[in-house]
Amino acid sequence: MSSAPRVDIDLSAFWADPYPVLARLRAEAPIAFVPQLGGTVFARRDDIFVSEKKIDVFSSHQPEGLMNKLMGHNMMRKDGEAHLSERRAIFPSVSPKTVKLHWTREFQAHADRIIEALLPQGQAEFCKDFALPFSAECLKSITGLTNMRFEDMDAWSQGMIDGIANYVGDPEVEARCHRATAGIDAAIDEMAPILAKAPDQSLLGVLLQSGMPMESVRANIKLAISGGQNEPRDAVAGTVWALLTHPEQLDLVLSGRVGWLQAFEEYARWISPIGMSPRRIAKPWSINGIDFMPNDKIFFMFGSANRDERHFDRPKIFDISRDVSKSIAFGAGPHFCAGAWASRAMLADVALPTIFKRLSGLRIVQRDEIRMGGWAFRGLLNLPVAWDLA
Ligand code: HEM
Repeated sequence: MSSAPRVDIDLSAFWADPYPVLARLRAEAPIAFVPQLGGTVFARRDDIFVSEKKIDVFSSHQPEGLMNKLMGHNMMRKDGEAHLSERRAIFPSVSPKTVKLHWTREFQAHADRIIEALLPQGQAEFCKDFALPFSAECLKSITGLTNMRFEDMDAWSQGMIDGIANYVGDPEVEARCHRATAGIDAAIDEMAPILAKAPDQSLLGVLLQSGMPMESVRANIKLAISGGQNEPRDAVAGTVWALLTHPEQLDLVLSGRVGWLQAFEEYARWISPIGMSPRRIAKPWSINGIDFMPNDKIFFMFGSANRDERHFDRPKIFDISRDVSKSIAFGAGPHFCAGAWASRAMLADVALPTIFKRLSGLRIVQRDEIRMGGWAFRGLLNLPVAWDLA
């Protein structure tokens, strides 16, 4: 176990709002052993930024981890060449060029179709009625699993996320995770012969062409589903909520003084959809006078790094005119989010401009209290909205 100072936390309060604890850690114990999480937390941006690149110490390879056992061995749990070769294989599907020339058009068609169906209602539960199906339809396109239902994409993504965090071994959670991976395998089995005959730019299409073993193809598709559904979903709903509750910031975008991309990037800094990425210590190591032993569990807290007072002035404030170049919402090392360019297109080129253009007079309806939860993944739980009927 690391020699980091021990800091106890209340897990349910941390889930409801991790930011007060993270601010205290940054100030008093930036590298701290948190028994309730079973690992050592890195809370400051610079420590994460430097350490994440030292893959010989801060390894992603976690052979005993639940992710490997339940979802198969994907690139997120590999280091060095084993990781890079799989990353290279998926690149043609998620590169900036493919996103620009191919996916953005499909994302726009998804957004238009969903908005068109919602328009006459004049009101919606935005998380459930727009953010969830939009993210899922985009992910169906990217993965090539267009035979899935959008509801399954969301539920199976969550089933895997819950499964890999099921440290207490709840049999019901594990069973749900198995149902999710079985559902995805069945969808892959159905699409694989079609895409093998007529390859396209989808992840499945590109990976089948790459000659990657089928076991790894399945594992990486599951990774994309577990890591590619709730983040764009939560970022769409969260950025809309942030702009509606900060009308002066919305004005900056609508008047053309600040771009949609900047609004999304500032939201992802302020409330990072992925707050944490885990690592395993691979060899004895010391940092800031703290010693680590092999197999110590590390949590890089991106959500905390993005509120680090050393880099961001008044970090608690949502301010779309600030410099967000130091944000590490998509990571800061070789595992930098492979879906970053697709996400920027989904949010900044498609969802946000389409929502604010088509839903005129969009406003929050104060029916229920608006809730938010999570620290590893964080997002809004509800967002009742209304708009003017034409
Ligand atoms: C708002 C949207 C998103 C955010 C904020 C986000 C954030 C992240 C973060 C923080 C990581 C870990 C980085 C690290 O440990 O250094 C990651 C990894 C990853 N993400 Fe995303 N993500 C988003 C959307 C997506 C989408 C839509 C996809 C799928 C197309 C995706 C696929 C991946 C993959 C495959 C990895 C692992 C990359 C590797 O191991 O090399 N992400 N993402």
